[in-house]
Amino acid sequence: MGKKTGKMFKRILYGGDYNPNQWPREIWEEDMRIFRKAHINSASINIFSWAKIQPSEETYYFDELDDIIEMLSKEGYDIVMATSTAALPAWMVKRYPEVARTDYYGRKHKFGQRHNACPNSLVYQKYAKALAEELAKRYGNNKNIVCWHVNNEYGGECYCESCEKAFRVWLRKKYKTIEALNKAWNMEFWGHTIYDWDETVLPNALSEGIGEDKTAFAGISIDYRRFNSDSLLENFKMERDAIRKYDPDTPITNNLMGTYKGLDYFKWAKEMDIVSWDNYPAYDTPWSMTAMRHDLMRGLKGRPFMLMEQTPSQQNWQPYNSLKRPGQMRAQSYQTVAHGADTIQFFQLRRSVGACEKFHGAVIAHVGHENTRVFREVAQLGKELKELDCILGSDNPSKVGIIFDWDNYWALEYTSGPHKDLKYVDQIHNYYRYFYEKNIPVDMIPIDGDFSKYDVVVAPVLYMVKEGVGEALEEYVKNGGTLVTSFMSGIVDQSDNVYLGGYPGPLRKMAGIWVEEIDALAPEQHNTVVFTDGIEYTCRMLCDLMHLEGAESLANYSSDFYAGTPVVTRNKFGKGRVYYIGTDLEESALDKVLDQVTAEADVSSIINEPTKLEVTYRESEKERLYFIINFVKDEQPLPKCFAGKRDLLSGDELGDDTKLKQYDVILVSIHK
Ligand code: GLA
Ligand code: ZN
Repeated sequence: MGKKTGKMFKRILYGGDYNPNQWPREIWEEDMRIFRKAHINSASINIFSWAKIQPSEETYYFDELDDIIEMLSKEGYDIVMATSTAALPAWMVKRYPEVARTDYYGRKHKFGQRHNACPNSLVYQKYAKALAEELAKRYGNNKNIVCWHVNNEYGGECYCESCEKAFRVWLRKKYKTIEALNKAWNMEFWGHTIYDWDETVLPNALSEGIGEDKTAFAGISIDYRRFNSDSLLENFKMERDAIRKYDPDTPITNNLMGTYKGLDYFKWAKEMDIVSWDNYPAYDTPWSMTAMRHDLMRGLKGRPFMLMEQTPSQQNWQPYNSLKRPGQMRAQSYQTVAHGADTIQFFQLRRSVGACEKFHGAVIAHVGHENTRVFREVAQLGKELKELDCILGSDNPSKVGIIFDWDNYWALEYTSGPHKDLKYVDQIHNYYRYFYEKNIPVDMIPIDGDFSKYDVVVAPVLYMVKEGVGEALEEYVKNGGTLVTSFMSGIVDQSDNVYLGGYPGPLRKMAGIWVEEIDALAPEQHNTVVFTDGIEYTCRMLCDLMHLEGAESLANYSSDFYAGTPVVTRNKFGKGRVYYIGTDLEESALDKVLDQVTAEADVSSIINEPTKLEVTYRESEKERLYFIINFVKDEQPLPKCFAGKRDLLSGDELGDDTKLKQYDVILVSIHK
């Protein structure tokens, strides 16, 4: 493995996806001239060039790539070198049709699109590995290459026969005996008992699937998700190891996609030297959601990450691709750095002339020159980031951990009932939003993380409590931690079989409650809850009907046949406490519970004044660098604690009356 500690890069990488191979050479020089003006110092290249650099089975062609690298090296660029294996060349699919994927509906795909290789195709593996090796052999010594970027946005699924066979091998390894498999998948149900490994089939629309995202046997589908994530991870490891043969040091990454459902990123991150990701919020994505995704990407390794892609202006693949308003890209970029990014890279540097991304924003627009609003904003940011290398490698200290677990994500959303609108990421975000608005830093942590580092651990809808997790959480609470959990928690084990004896299973003792039934409310319905202070709020979606077994009630339902029964509870357990929130509370009610949680656990905002600004800091040995950003429409006053300090970006002294307009950013350094 490559470099693991300290700074990954000597400066903030500023640049992005660059595809000069799609352009005539006359343009390359012009690109260099223009990028210089924007202080661009980095380019990610060779991302989708397989067909060009390997025109046939027997031949490689590197002349053009050599020239691109030479040009960038001369300009002193830090190069992010991709391996090109994310889109199959046509010749390969023609000659070996098995390299293409078979989809959920059992349709065998032809040549086309990208992210299209069957991960278990031996032919794909052979050629991908060979290409990565060729590239590393040729360029592994190039000092300008500061990072390897394997493939691109791994994802998707394949349901072909090679995958089915590989799935059986994976299952045999996991379960050892058919009996264990039958038990794990509860195969007595609907008489699904199998007697031979080759009776297992992939769970798709032709077998266990119910529509696109439900299944008759969640246990099988969850195992398939694990298997598919592992299969793609094997593809990554294979290329990584091929590169390592020739390049022992340069960090190796692949670009992830935030809360993307398909891959267990915590497992992936263990195999990556540095996490990188692509951030594409839509016009209506809450800024708290974007912040949460950054925190999740930082949480994967507990280290700074790379922002591999964002658009400087607009998107093409969203339903409504609105322009980023003046200042918005800059504010978004500072938010990214504030939450742990050590690079800011765009997709892409020059706007495509054809195909589906021609309306995707870029640093250089179709007009071809630099006299554009977008370019000016890119150049301004480039100038500012040049002065911020002190940020590299610094931390985001947090006292609150929110658990994010892909197994649970899959299980919760595969389960049939009780409510079709229950979405994992949205539920996690409901809780994250509270901490975000209060400017309380959060780490997004894995289910097998070190809880003892946190004063508060939040685990909403922890439906799947894998073996050992209940014990770890109990230990944490006993030792003084505060655990916040919610409805739809503690229900199944890692195979999606229910913990018998009453919900919330392994959490029941520490929560001091028993949930007897779970009511589901349709979107047009709601219930009400009343807190001990007599104030009433609404709640929706799911309502636990529960009994106290040692816990105290902080709120009871106030309507329907379960009016008067507890819905929000607190239980002292060992030296700590467990809060259980038995329904989907409206925002202000959730705030009220979490206000109590944070006050009790002595967790507070990083600034002592209420504000609608986003305030975050990154910390190095010597200083704390505060990022103060206005993401709301109206002008906001700067918190008083920053008066008298200097804004690093403008150089201005900040006053009692300093205000931030929408998308204004202020950076303040405070020496420790
Ligand atoms: C993804 C891909 C890029 C590009 C962008 C467009 O992130 O990695 O190749 O297609 O989307 O937004
Ligand atoms: Zn396949």
